[in-house]
Amino acid sequence: MLSWDEETASRASAQPRPHLQAVPNVPQFSTHADAALNQGILARSEPQVNTAQRVQAADKRVINGQTDVNQLVPFKYKWAWDKYLAGCANHWMPQEINMQRDIELWKNPNGLTEDERRLVKRNLGFFVTADSLAANNIVLGTYRHITAPECRQYLLRQAFEEAIHTHAYQYIVESLGLEESEIFNAYNEVKSIRDKDQFLIPFIETLTDPAFTTGTTENDQKLLKSLIVFACLMEGLFFYVGFTQILALGRQNKMMGAAEQYQYILRDESMHCNFGIDLINTIKLENPHLWTSTFKEEIKALFLEAVELEYRYAEDTMPRGVLGLNAPMFKGYLRFIANRRAQQIGLEALFPQEENPFPWMSEMIDLKKERNFFETRVIEYQTGGALNWE
Ligand SMILES: [Fe+2]
Ligand SMILES: [Fe+2]
Repeated sequence: MLSWDEETASRASAQPRPHLQAVPNVPQFSTHADAALNQGILARSEPQVNTAQRVQAADKRVINGQTDVNQLVPFKYKWAWDKYLAGCANHWMPQEINMQRDIELWKNPNGLTEDERRLVKRNLGFFVTADSLAANNIVLGTYRHITAPECRQYLLRQAFEEAIHTHAYQYIVESLGLEESEIFNAYNEVKSIRDKDQFLIPFIETLTDPAFTTGTTENDQKLLKSLIVFACLMEGLFFYVGFTQILALGRQNKMMGAAEQYQYILRDESMHCNFGIDLINTIKLENPHLWTSTFKEEIKALFLEAVELEYRYAEDTMPRGVLGLNAPMFKGYLRFIANRRAQQIGLEALFPQEENPFPWMSEMIDLKKERNFFETRVIEYQTGGALNWE
């Protein structure tokens, strides 16, 4: 059981990290008694204010920064703040989407083919745990290594969105009455899913290792590599076969509720991927020495491996053609996306001249003004955000 003594002891033994240290002029309290004493002293005398030591935007850094992480402003990384605002404006909840037609279709023995059912189950089998991996990676890993408060603010929003995504997948599993243990254990039991997760695990472990700290070229490269794997290969590539499959069902008026859920998730994930890419490019800009030719070769090798793993997942989820889709079509699509991700972080295209076989996916990602539900909600939230009390 936690006692005040234990709390004080653990605080006293903790090693301070540069980005957690208090700014000068703020008293360091070691115990509650000290805090009370210091507050008393502060009440009796005016603190010395040295405005020259206030946070300057120019001093902020995305990693290894020395400025106070508790001070959001002055802003330096406006792109991160803008994405935080956009994420909030896009807020949605899974249970607001009607699943009745999906439930009827799933329960109707003639509603879906066996291949379509396999596709839905394999799809959920990957996603029900993938977003928990993403959330844990942010909360227990990435967040503490990022020293720009604007970026941390976005990561807090992103972590909640990952929780909403896990909720959405759970809600679909529950609505359809699927075998929960089968779906939630797929990442242990289905090879094509396990292989994707096994690829990610070492990069998550790097960031979540309590002993891992940034500040050396080697470790900063490890952090950068993990960020690239997450933004470009997990959120930016591993999600795309699965999204395409469910949206293809929706385009044929099947599993419309699930397809709508996936559309909202896809919109969030596009933002996560873009934020991650901005974060990676800013770290590169602030630390050009990390972007060596050896490092770039390592990243290219990871891209090639990820494309192969996602292609094997496509084969496993679509052993025969289904919904007008088949695995070979995804080979071109994955190469097309991999090229885009590589170019977004300043690498050359890995597979020159690949074209997008699914242009309708790009339209869905942009979510043009075709969803009345979405439009209504955004207006409502934006009105709420700009509430005028007069
Ligand atoms: Fe997610
Ligand atoms: Fe995400």
